[in-house]
Amino acid sequence: AELKLWGGRFTGSTDPLMHLYNASLPYDQKMYKADILGTKVYTSGLQKIGLLTDDELIKIHQGLDLIEQEWSLGKFVEKDGDEDIHTANERRLGELIGREISGKVHTGRSRNDQVATDMRIFVREELIKLKSILKDLIETILKRAENEIDVLMPGYTHLQKAQPIRWSHWLSMYATYFVEDYKRLIEIIDRLNSSPLGAGALAGHPYGIDREFLAKGLGFNNVIGNSLTAVSDRDFVVESLFWSTLFMNHISRLSEDLIIYSSGEFGFIKLADAYSTGSSLMPQKKNPDSLELLRGKSGRVFGSLSGFLMSIKSIPSTYNKDMQEDKEPLFDALTTVEHSILIATGVISTLNINKDKMESALTMDMLATDLADYLVRKGVPFRETHHISGSCVKLAEDLNLSGIDQLTLDQFKSIDERFNEDVRETFNFETSVERRTAIGGTAKSAVLNQLQNLQSQL
Ligand code: ARG
Repeated sequence: AELKLWGGRFTGSTDPLMHLYNASLPYDQKMYKADILGTKVYTSGLQKIGLLTDDELIKIHQGLDLIEQEWSLGKFVEKDGDEDIHTANERRLGELIGREISGKVHTGRSRNDQVATDMRIFVREELIKLKSILKDLIETILKRAENEIDVLMPGYTHLQKAQPIRWSHWLSMYATYFVEDYKRLIEIIDRLNSSPLGAGALAGHPYGIDREFLAKGLGFNNVIGNSLTAVSDRDFVVESLFWSTLFMNHISRLSEDLIIYSSGEFGFIKLADAYSTGSSLMPQKKNPDSLELLRGKSGRVFGSLSGFLMSIKSIPSTYNKDMQEDKEPLFDALTTVEHSILIATGVISTLNINKDKMESALTMDMLATDLADYLVRKGVPFRETHHISGSCVKLAEDLNLSGIDQLTLDQFKSIDERFNEDVRETFNFETSVERRTAIGGTAKSAVLNQLQNLQSQL
């Protein structure tokens, strides 16, 4: 019969379906490196307090190196009794260096502090990877914004044409979101970087292991100060999932904008072939599947967060097996986010913009606010000028003119005496945009400042 590591008090064998239901090895083998590193440092800690000899420690570390090699070459042979990455590695260590020595490795340790440690190491590495590719995404956006700084387009609220803006200002909006994501990610990495190792199953370490030594060896900033918290805390999983959800929400909104901008009716952008697909039926179609998937997958990541919150919302304190359910949603979310960042970077760096379409979508009524501002500059209170400008829009409409700029000076004066010949200068999109020089505005200087400021935060 198969040998379970915890088999001492059990006489009956496990229901085969129960074994499968219980086993996490199919997905937690992703953490093999973290598990091996954790055991290396832990056994060094044991040697330090005299529970392993120098010679035993060397044998253990050599065995662990071999196991790591087996995993990385895809040569690790799983056995029926293996339940998770921790038991699989310990079982294999016994085969390689003998149970006499491997049997000492787990002294004072539990899979509870072990798995919490592995997860933190693994997630830390994954988040650092995300941080690096997110930086690339942001820089791709910033570069594009700098190159295309002269292109104007309509800015929208309620998806209705509102005011002219720079295309780069739109790009800079998403770069601003992503820089916040970037900074939030750094905070999460910092917060999760505390060591649970040496907490034992829950009550603490019975042989006085040096937990600070373990923490240092694993690159943690500090030790989690309560052994019960150390084994039971999965807040870092929730935070990572929430981060992923919020980030994907930003990606989803960006995608939605670009889907709209790529429609025939807008025609502002064209996706590269590399990120589009055709229709099996309609030969003329070029569909923005990449963007639709970015938008769609945000829902999947959101589901991972809410699912895991449900899993842990009312479990009693310290370790419960429910907590094993942290892995699949988190791993799936991290992979989805990683791929999404790479795809978004590809989409944004390869799409083509159609400057003419963007600029010809600008309409004179989008300058009605500027018309109100014109009178403000002549000393009229804004609330009044807003009304006057509205009357001009209405008059132009009533006269069936193509826009407010077509009104004659007499017609302007019929609405308000304070209009002069210089009102003509209002009807220029570039002028409108260039007035917005205050911090965060769409004037060229203000946008260039944003880009520089964003770059400096990376
Ligand atoms: N595979 C388990 C998990 O992922 C490891 C911890 C098992 N601990 C226990 N007491 N059964 O959570």
